[in-house]
Amino acid sequence: MSMLKVDNLNVYYGSIHALKGVSLNVDEGEIVTLIGANGAGKSTLLKTLSGLLKPKEGTIDYLKKSIAGKPAQAIVKAGISHVPEGRRVFAEMSVEENIELGAFLRKDKAGIQKDFQKVYETFPRLHERRKQSAGTLSGGEQQMLAMGRAIMAKPKLLLLDEPSMGLAPLMVKTIFQVVKDINKEGTTILLVEQNAHMALSIADRAYVIETGRVILSGTAEELQASEEIKNAYLGGH
Ligand SMILES: Nc1ncnc2c1ncn2[C@@H]1O[C@H](COP(=O)(O)OP(=O)(O)O)[C@@H](O)[C@H]1O
Ligand SMILES: [Mg+2]
Repeated sequence: MSMLKVDNLNVYYGSIHALKGVSLNVDEGEIVTLIGANGAGKSTLLKTLSGLLKPKEGTIDYLKKSIAGKPAQAIVKAGISHVPEGRRVFAEMSVEENIELGAFLRKDKAGIQKDFQKVYETFPRLHERRKQSAGTLSGGEQQMLAMGRAIMAKPKLLLLDEPSMGLAPLMVKTIFQVVKDINKEGTTILLVEQNAHMALSIADRAYVIETGRVILSGTAEELQASEEIKNAYLGGH
């Protein structure tokens, strides 16, 4: 079943035409990855889906309802969580307080407690450091924290913007494993990555975006086998 259907999306920053007629589809239960070079428009797409930017043209249907141009808070409430590029944790607040913030729209106390436990089971490191201020965490730990906070919103669809950026290889592996686990437990994932190799290794399907346009799409296997993708995004391997 289609969870997210984007059609002919056009987004501008003033006179800069950042997304030029983007269409894509995410089915319930999938991991879909969006790959493309720096400046291609990946973050712009996620920001538009989560209500931080408004499209000039095009439709965004989520669970068969239009969400294009809706306020960000309404979109979170409908079940879409966005982990932005560069993580953005609240440095002065504790790890625990940062996680708690993710649940700010929820009222189900028991469910919140359960998900708190789930976040700590997924990321034992965050449990160890729960009283520390978030600013003292390493880059990888801050990425875990940003993901933990997003899980607390109990999303049906999780938008992840370059979760592996700037992390050591071992931490990248951990983060990708967690993305797989979150998906197995029922959350649909739209994953933006410059690390095409890792992204394709966990995704069901992928879209390739270049200067604001989708230029190619297919199953992860198809794209891994494509000469064009190998040369442009997988270092020729
Ligand atoms: N706040 C902004 N103001 C003006 N132009 C922007 C802004 N943010 C991004 N852009 C431009 O929009 C295009 C797409 O950017 P972005 O979505 O951040 O790409 P990606 O995430 O794929 O690296 C780029 O040309 C970028 O320079
Ligand atoms: Mg980006």
